Amino acid sequence: MALPGAVAAAAGLLLLLLLLVPAAARRCPLLCVDFVAFATMVWSSARCRWRLSRRRPVTLVDVFQEHARRQPRRPLLRFQDEVHTYEDVERRSNRAARALSRRLGLQPGRAVAVFLPNEPTYVWAWLALAKLGCPMACLNTNVRALCTRVCNTPTPRGVCRGALLRDAVEEALPDLQRDGTRVFYLSAHSPTPGVEALLPAIEAASDEPLPAHHRTGVTAKSKAVYIYTSGTTGLPKAAVITETKLMMVANLGRLCGLRPDDIVYTTLPLYHAAGLLIGVGGCFEVGATCVLRAKFSASQFWDDCRHYNVSVIQYVGELMRYLCNTPRHGVRLAMGNGLRAEVWKEFLQRFGPVSIWEFYGATEGNAGFINYTGKIGAVGRDNVFLKTFAPFELIKYNVEKDEPVRDERGLCIRVCPGETGLLVIKITKNTPFDGYAGDSQKTEKKVLRDVLVKGDAFFNSGDLLMIDHERFVYFQDRVGDTFRWKGENVATTEVEATLAMVNFIQEVNVYGVSVPGCEGRCGMAAIRLRAGASFEGERLYAFTRETLPSYAAPRFVRIQDALEITGTFKQCKGNLVRDGFDPGATRDPLFFRDDTKKSYVPLSPDTFAAIRDMRLSL
Ligand SMILES: *[C@@H]1O[C@H](CO)[C@@H](O)[C@H](O)[C@H]1NC(C)=O
Ligand SMILES: *[C@@H]1O[C@H](CO)[C@@H](O)[C@H](O)[C@H]1NC(C)=O
Repeated sequence: MALPGAVAAAAGLLLLLLLLVPAAARRCPLLCVDFVAFATMVWSSARCRWRLSRRRPVTLVDVFQEHARRQPRRPLLRFQDEVHTYEDVERRSNRAARALSRRLGLQPGRAVAVFLPNEPTYVWAWLALAKLGCPMACLNTNVRALCTRVCNTPTPRGVCRGALLRDAVEEALPDLQRDGTRVFYLSAHSPTPGVEALLPAIEAASDEPLPAHHRTGVTAKSKAVYIYTSGTTGLPKAAVITETKLMMVANLGRLCGLRPDDIVYTTLPLYHAAGLLIGVGGCFEVGATCVLRAKFSASQFWDDCRHYNVSVIQYVGELMRYLCNTPRHGVRLAMGNGLRAEVWKEFLQRFGPVSIWEFYGATEGNAGFINYTGKIGAVGRDNVFLKTFAPFELIKYNVEKDEPVRDERGLCIRVCPGETGLLVIKITKNTPFDGYAGDSQKTEKKVLRDVLVKGDAFFNSGDLLMIDHERFVYFQDRVGDTFRWKGENVATTEVEATLAMVNFIQEVNVYGVSVPGCEGRCGMAAIRLRAGASFEGERLYAFTRETLPSYAAPRFVRIQDALEITGTFKQCKGNLVRDGFDPGATRDPLFFRDDTKKSYVPLSPDTFAAIRDMRLSL
C-alpha cells in the first residue's frame, strides 16, 4: 500500500471512529485501546512503506547512516569491554564493503552467507553487505552438519566465517569448494590452508562512504536477509526477509516504546530474527545502544544488566525461567515471544515492574500479534480494526491427520470463541508472504488455499491459538507439538507447564511416542532433575493424577542429564521421539506409569517387550 492510500484510509477511519468511539467506548472500554493500537500500527506501517517507496528508497542502512551522521560518538555496540560507536561501525563497514567487493567481485543481489558467533563482526559484516546491495544469509552456528546443505539454498557466493568456528568450516570446506562457494575468514589469520583471512585487506581499505551505484537496484521488495527458521522439526528453511519486512520488524521496538537513550541487551543468537532484526535492527532504527553477548548465561544476566546499565532486555520462550537470582536492576522493558502465563506472572513478581511486550509472529509469517492490553498471558487481541488490515482466522484443525478440517464444500471451518484453532493469515498486498529462498515447494506448503471462499490464499502459521470470549488471543501450541491419544488432543506445552511445578523437576520436555497396536501417540516426558533431588515415582503419580486428565499424564518418563535445546531455547523432540520408550535405545533411566502400583516404576525390558508385543495394553 502506498502512502496516500494508507493515509486517506487511516484518516477516513479516524474520522468515522472519532464519531463512533465515545459511544462504543462506554459499552466496550477495550475498543479505544484496540483503536489506538490499530492507529499506531497503521502509522508505523505507512511510515515504513513511505520510506521505501521514495525514488531513492530509504532502507534500514540509510536510517543507520543518518544516526551515524547525527550521533557519531554514541555507542552502537558493546561487547565484553569493547565499545563501538556509530561512527566506528559506519567506517568499519565501509572498509569491509570495499574489501569484500574487491576480493569477491560481489555483484549486487548476490547472497553471501555468514557463519559467525554473536560479536560486533556480525553487525559490521551485515552493514557491509547491505551497502553492497547483497543479501546476507545467516547460518545457524549450532547446525554444523547441515551447514553445507543449508548454504546451497540461496546459492551464496562467499561464506565469511570467524576463526572461532574453524572446526565446522574445515568439516564443510570440501563440499563448499566443490559447489563453487568461496570461503573467507573475517579474522586476522587463517588457520586453514587455502582459505584466506580477510581482516588485513579490510583494515587496509579506505573507510570513505561507498559509491551509491551499488545500491541503485535496491527496492522495497529486494531481498535483504535470509533467516533460517529453526522449528523443532524438519530441516531449516531460508525465510526471505525483504527490505519492507526488515523495516517493519526493526520498527517493532519503536512500537514497544524503544527510545534513543535505551541500552538493549541481546543474548539471542544473531542468526535469528529476534536477535538480529528486532534487537540490532531496532537499535539501528531508533539510534540506541546494543549490548551483545556471545551466549545467554543465566548467572551473568543481571550482572551484565547492571554493568552495562541495560534498560531493555530481549527474551524468547523459556529464557525467563532460567533467571533465578533477584538483584536490583534498571530494566524497564522486555520484548520477546513465547512467554507462558505462569512464567510471566512469576517474572513480574520476582523482578518488579518491567513492562513486558510479548508478541507472536513467525520469521516468515506475514503478520503477528502484540500484547498491547496488558493482559497477562495473552499475545494480543482479536482487534476488529486490525483485522481489516491483516485478516486472520482460527480454523478447526484435525491433529491426527495433521490437516485443517473441511466442510462438504471443501472450505475450512472457523472455530468458536474459547476453542483452539489453527491460525491462518490472509495473503494480501498488506500482508504478503515472501516465502523461502529457492524452494517453491516449501513455500507452497505454507500456503493454505480455499479457506473461506474458493481461490483464496492464507499463510498457514502452523500454530494453534485460542481467542476467548473477551477477544484476547492466546498462543496454545505448535501444530507438531500437539498429539492425539485415546481420541483426545494433548498439548505438550500444557503438560510441560504442569510438570514443571513438581519440585524435583528442573526441566521437562513432553512428546508423543508410537506404541504398537495403539492409535495416536502415547505421552512421554524427558526430565532433568533439580540438583541434589531424586526421582519420586509415587509423588509424580499422585501429582499427575490430580492435575492432568488421564490421557495427558505421561505414560513414560525418561531422565536426562541435560535436555537438548535449539539456539532459541526451543526444545528438540526429534531424537527423543525416535528413541521412544525402548530401554535398549538409551542409557537414560526410563520409568513407566503403573496404575496398579500407583507409581512410576522403572521400565524393565520385560515390560517393554510386553507392550511391544501388545500383551500389555496401555
Ligand atoms: C552506568 O551508569 C553509571 C551511572 O550513571 C556510570 O557511572 C557507569 O559508567 C555506567 N556504566 C557503563 C558501563 O556505561
Ligand atoms: C503486557 O502485559 C504486561 C503484564 O501485564 C504488562 O506489564 C505490559 O505493560 C503489557 N504490555 C503492554 C504493551 O501493555
